[in-house]
Amino acid sequence: MADTTGKSMDDIVALCKRRGFVYPSSEIYGGINGFWDYGPLGVQLKNNVRDDWWRNLVDCPPTGPDGYPLQIMGVDSAIIQNPRTWEASGHVAGFNDPMVDCKACKARFRADQMDEYECPLKPSKKIGQHDKCDLTEPRQFNLMFESYAGAVKDDSSKVYLRPETAQGIFLNYKNVLDTMRVKIPFGIAQIGKAFRNEVTPRNFIFRSREFEQMEMEWFCRPEESPKWYEFWKSERLKWWISLGVDKSNLQLRDHDQDELSHYSTMTVDIEYKYPFSASGFGELEGIAHRGCFDLTQHQEHSKQKLEYFDQERNERYIPHVIEPASGLTRGVLVLLCEAYTPDDSRPSKLYMKFHPRMAPIKAAVFPLVNKDGMPELAEKLYLELRRRLAVEFDVKQSIGKRYARMDEAGTPYCFTIDGDTLNDQTVTMRDRDTLEQQRIGIDKVGRFLAEQLATAQ
Ligand code: GAP
Repeated sequence: MADTTGKSMDDIVALCKRRGFVYPSSEIYGGINGFWDYGPLGVQLKNNVRDDWWRNLVDCPPTGPDGYPLQIMGVDSAIIQNPRTWEASGHVAGFNDPMVDCKACKARFRADQMDEYECPLKPSKKIGQHDKCDLTEPRQFNLMFESYAGAVKDDSSKVYLRPETAQGIFLNYKNVLDTMRVKIPFGIAQIGKAFRNEVTPRNFIFRSREFEQMEMEWFCRPEESPKWYEFWKSERLKWWISLGVDKSNLQLRDHDQDELSHYSTMTVDIEYKYPFSASGFGELEGIAHRGCFDLTQHQEHSKQKLEYFDQERNERYIPHVIEPASGLTRGVLVLLCEAYTPDDSRPSKLYMKFHPRMAPIKAAVFPLVNKDGMPELAEKLYLELRRRLAVEFDVKQSIGKRYARMDEAGTPYCFTIDGDTLNDQTVTMRDRDTLEQQRIGIDKVGRFLAEQLATAQ
């Protein structure tokens, strides 16, 4: 079903498969529920989001209220950590979803989302609404994937695949403090895989069992934490808008008391208007006030001192933490949904309106026809651009079909070498969004692209 802008999830998923953004994982064996593979265009898009996040927080961080760049450092911790980590963090005891089985149709659902599911029995009705439905009482299901480290498989060798990247940051907080000459306030950022054995993975890559997160823990003085909570709320919203997400498709939503995670005293979600979301909006990123929960827990469980000593004030305390936590793969879904633009006037009937910085392919170079010296000139331009940018060269099929392919890939600019190029050294530049074509000197193409990528809004 399409939403009011004509976007339908089925169409977006089909495009992702057809154009090499996202494939079902292990498809030749029938796939595996909740796992996805990123194809050539998808991995490029994902890396563009990932690199922009890192640049925005670690390499060129935002300016703080004192006019100086904030101090944020990166780490890359192991996916498998000492299992006591997850006892201290509360995940072993509390990282559960309430699960319900139907003994009639053998389907399994999250008890807190039953009204969102259709019963597999016909005629279609919501779960529990057929006479035959025979539901169990909800029981708690822990979402952590378990494995074993070493040769012996018993409780003593049990380990977990991390369900969030955040704990790897808390475990390294002391290392970073001791080695990096940092002072409170400061942040530690990490991007990486996380694993959750979701009861019902769904909505394409929105909720999967293996996904990637981009998380930053901001350590600050307890009394300054409300100020930083507001700061990160606004910074993070601005960043998603800078990737080309329309402001009107984003909203901030405060968590009610009864939906707060065990570690949080305040959380706000940045939500996006996904085409599948019945309620209009769904989570993209959470900004949580984690207080001193994690460091206190790790201090108690590890018996290592994790206090901060403030030399200027001669004070010791456990810092409070504000955590902007977003899904990298969920961000990719947002950019795919946002970019998907139906347009009946084009042969492709759609184009992907990625922000040029996010576009997997930045430009394409085509000879109009495969003769009269055009392929040679086109290849020369392509080879020159390819040294710096992800550029594609295509000589196959009609020029209209090549443009259509690039519209589906979301390539912002195409340059065509034609008969006039041989006389006046200019090429046709086609703009993906406006479809305008203009002549531009072949020697100016590189500079034009660099300017567009640096300045595009
Ligand atoms: N450290 C806090 C934390 O992990 P979360 O709200 O559970 O908080 C943060 O996860 C973000 O990770 C979410 O906003 C979402 O973007 C992403 N995420 C969580 N579970 C996911 C899943 N099963 N599939 C894809 N992305 C997920």
